[in-house]
Amino acid sequence: MRLGTLCSTGRAIISNFLAARKLCKYENWNNDIGKMETVQVLDKKFKVSIPEEVIMKRIDAVAEKINRDMEGKNPLFLAVLNGAFMFASDLMKRLTIPCEISFVKLASYQGVTSSGKVKEVIGINEDISGRHVIIIEDIVESGLTIKRMLESLGTRNPASVHVCTLLYKPEKMRNDIDIEYVAMRIPNDFVVGYGLDYNQQGRNLKDIYSLVEENESNQNTENMKNIVIFGAPGSGKGTQSDLIIEKYGLNHISTGDVLRAEIKNDTELGKIAKQYIDDGMLVPDSLIVDMLAGVYDSYGPNHKGVIFDGFPRTVPQAEALKKMLADRGHKVAAMIELNVPEDELMTRLIKRGIDSGRSDDNEETIRKRLNVYHSQTAPLIDWYQAEGIRHKINGLGDLNRIFGDIAQVIDNL
Ligand code: IMP
Ligand code: MG
Repeated sequence: MRLGTLCSTGRAIISNFLAARKLCKYENWNNDIGKMETVQVLDKKFKVSIPEEVIMKRIDAVAEKINRDMEGKNPLFLAVLNGAFMFASDLMKRLTIPCEISFVKLASYQGVTSSGKVKEVIGINEDISGRHVIIIEDIVESGLTIKRMLESLGTRNPASVHVCTLLYKPEKMRNDIDIEYVAMRIPNDFVVGYGLDYNQQGRNLKDIYSLVEENESNQNTENMKNIVIFGAPGSGKGTQSDLIIEKYGLNHISTGDVLRAEIKNDTELGKIAKQYIDDGMLVPDSLIVDMLAGVYDSYGPNHKGVIFDGFPRTVPQAEALKKMLADRGHKVAAMIELNVPEDELMTRLIKRGIDSGRSDDNEETIRKRLNVYHSQTAPLIDWYQAEGIRHKINGLGDLNRIFGDIAQVIDNL
């Protein structure tokens, strides 16, 4: 394909790529070790803990042992998806004895036992009776998953069942299980990479990374500038928001946009929200906060700040937002209120109506919209005043002067 004739597929690939970069950000390339020292996966930061070369050496050792132990036994390997796929592949390349491999998955289903959820092994198409079976796992923690596997396989009369795991967290083991083949023992840290995931992300990393403790990664939150912006229609809120975003590198969360996107993308939350809307009801605050939290978390734990636009609209919403941020050790640093006298707003909105050809924007409908705005925001303005973070900005006059006043507030946060 020639450059310059980027087809829609090409554009889709690029936009998917850009979206993916928000999920997984690789940073701090270190030339000495030839790899990324830290990565951001969703809302968490991870640092490299087991480099690829070390993983390979450890797999060499495990493979050697299996080659010895299983000589002449034609073992059947059952690799547990999804996490074990990379390990299984590299292990297989090192096996020199005749052997077979198949892949299984653990599916949760609501059982009738007291514990509720039961895991069932699915995908075993082979007859394993009389076979020497080796389960290949990515990681064994409490041992519960492996216990279920062993129970399930035990009923199918294999000659023997063995466990081979890439990683083992001995401190977390809660079941009396013999794990014969362990590539690496690791401490309790949560790890990603080389097949292991954090919420399905990070499996593609070549090395293994461990979670950076919250207090290690939260050093920046002191400087985080989360801002709630209030402004009547016609107050210049959109223009000023754009200037703030540009100067301070903030993210912008517009509740309307988020809600529309969730519904359009048919997400779980979007489906529920749509039902409320279709039934002519208001989408509950908790649902909106869940959606905003999802977008908020996509910026990672150390973002520069977010401008909340169109939310909160009520005091309970302001409280919910405060709690959502507090749960993450964050807060709203400022509420910025763009204040423009009613007469000026009327003049601007009537002019805007004429310019855009929206002649239905007559004085009466505009006055109604402004009244709704003022009656909605008045209690919120009092609430933020009581929180001690309300900043009233004179929104009348030169655009740069107004932005200068806003910048002064933000610089002092
Ligand atoms: P167990 O049943 O407690 O032994 O847990 C094993 C399962 O938990 C693995 O198959 C993984 O899906 C998951 N898991 C445990 N620790 C980690 C980790 O550090 N990173 C990613 N997944 C993990
Ligand atoms: Mg797993």
